[in-house]
Amino acid sequence: MSCTDSDRTDIILPPENEPDRQFYYMDRVRELAADIARAEGRKLTYHIQTFGCQMNARDSEKLAGILERIGYERTDTEESDFVIYNTCSVRENANNRVYGRLGKLSNYKKANPSMMIAMCGCMMQEPDEIEKIRKTYRFVDIVFGTHNIYKLAELMYERMRSGETVIDIWEETDRIVEDIPNSRKYSFKSGVNIMFGCNNFCSYCIVPYVRGRERSREPKDIIREIERMVADGVKEVMLLGQNVNSYGKTLENPVSFAELLRGISQIDGLERIRFMTPHPKDLSDELIETMAEIPKICRHIHLPLQSGSSRILKAMNRHYTKESYLPDVSITTDIIVGFPGETEEDFEDTLDVVRKAEFDSAFTFIYSPRVGTPAASMPDRIPDEVTKRRFDGLLSAVSEGAKKRCGLDVGKTLPVLVEEINAQDKSLVTGRLSNNTLVHFEGGESLIGQIVNVRLTQSKGFYYIGEADKTTDKEVM
Ligand code: SAH
Ligand code: SF4
Ligand code: F3S
Repeated sequence: MSCTDSDRTDIILPPENEPDRQFYYMDRVRELAADIARAEGRKLTYHIQTFGCQMNARDSEKLAGILERIGYERTDTEESDFVIYNTCSVRENANNRVYGRLGKLSNYKKANPSMMIAMCGCMMQEPDEIEKIRKTYRFVDIVFGTHNIYKLAELMYERMRSGETVIDIWEETDRIVEDIPNSRKYSFKSGVNIMFGCNNFCSYCIVPYVRGRERSREPKDIIREIERMVADGVKEVMLLGQNVNSYGKTLENPVSFAELLRGISQIDGLERIRFMTPHPKDLSDELIETMAEIPKICRHIHLPLQSGSSRILKAMNRHYTKESYLPDVSITTDIIVGFPGETEEDFEDTLDVVRKAEFDSAFTFIYSPRVGTPAASMPDRIPDEVTKRRFDGLLSAVSEGAKKRCGLDVGKTLPVLVEEINAQDKSLVTGRLSNNTLVHFEGGESLIGQIVNVRLTQSKGFYYIGEADKTTDKEVM
């Protein structure tokens, strides 16, 4: 019973089970990387460039965790020994930006022969992009997709051993690998995946094709991950999924999103819970009630509208109408203009909802046709100049509404989680209210990661100026 079989297989053969197999490869690559570092007489560095949404940002933290365990150190520059582009394909210009930068990387590689370049993320799930990299960007060393990021160490090992380009793309997966290391960007807040993929197939959207079918993590795995984060200093979590309202439906023992929230809210030391993105078609009363009940859940919902025209919403396959969209809470949103067939009247409907809802803020997008999605072959493309005019009109309607809403809390003292030193004025710090609005106030480095009571003295449209409240204690006495 002393020297176990598993000890021995660890040395000779890679284990079959995950995550053990990946830890095995992390150790092997660590040895190979240490040899390179010794030969070069310096530490090896890595750089990850993340394009796209918070899912990708969280994936990058997992990639960073693996690389740090292998012995690479993070650096801000792309002139480094291991560069990863974690790509997004939600709109056309996202794809173009990647290729623009990739060209430059090849020059760095000529100057540093031990440099490796990896490409991953949503764009890599599109076969045309893989062809393009194979043909035109042959200096790329490793290519993988959205379903197998946990395998980075194994892919690096293959690349280092064979000297050949390694391309590993899976069309689909039903597995979720837990307990892969990760390295957070912020010490005090973190994204947490609660589910992967999407089953909604909105007619404009490529995400279901590049992220696969919806799968939820087990509540106990999510809670265990958050407990560990809290022990490590995290105060705020952002629960991530493409449609968090349908969380838990595919689990062996189904659990609702509201039930998950209740479970997470019981974690001692966790102060704030956010989530994105809920889908308007199934925003449940249970969820709104749970938010009202539990103070740790932030007073903010990002609820993408996409269009205010019920006709266009139908063509978009969104399953709700102009009338059923508006709940009575503070919301931010996403809106697309220029969807095929969008008339002036449809656009007026969108403006109408924007004016009534007075969104706290909105991400606005010009429709971008994505090959393979139903909308890409719909008739009546909207000319660029019309889209541009509508886009500008939408922006001003959004900012008028936001100004009205942001002003509402002037004079109040509210808790702010401080995130960073203000980029423009180093005497200020910047943080967020529970409802996600930014607040700038006088303070220093020591406040980062702290929750501070701040009196909101002035509204600036999308954000507040405030003062740390030093009088609270005295007033109480
Ligand atoms: N799951 C989320 C959104 C994920 S994509 C939801 O359903 O709300 C983020 C945003 O990108 C979308 O809300 C949409 O506004 C925008 N978007 C997606 N596909 C697009 C396309 N083809 N053209 C323009 N904007 C798009
Ligand atoms: Fe795309 Fe719709 Fe899924 Fe959101 S819900 S990721 S917009 S298909
Ligand atoms: Fe982009 Fe993929 Fe997110 S396409 S928006 S990175 S899910």
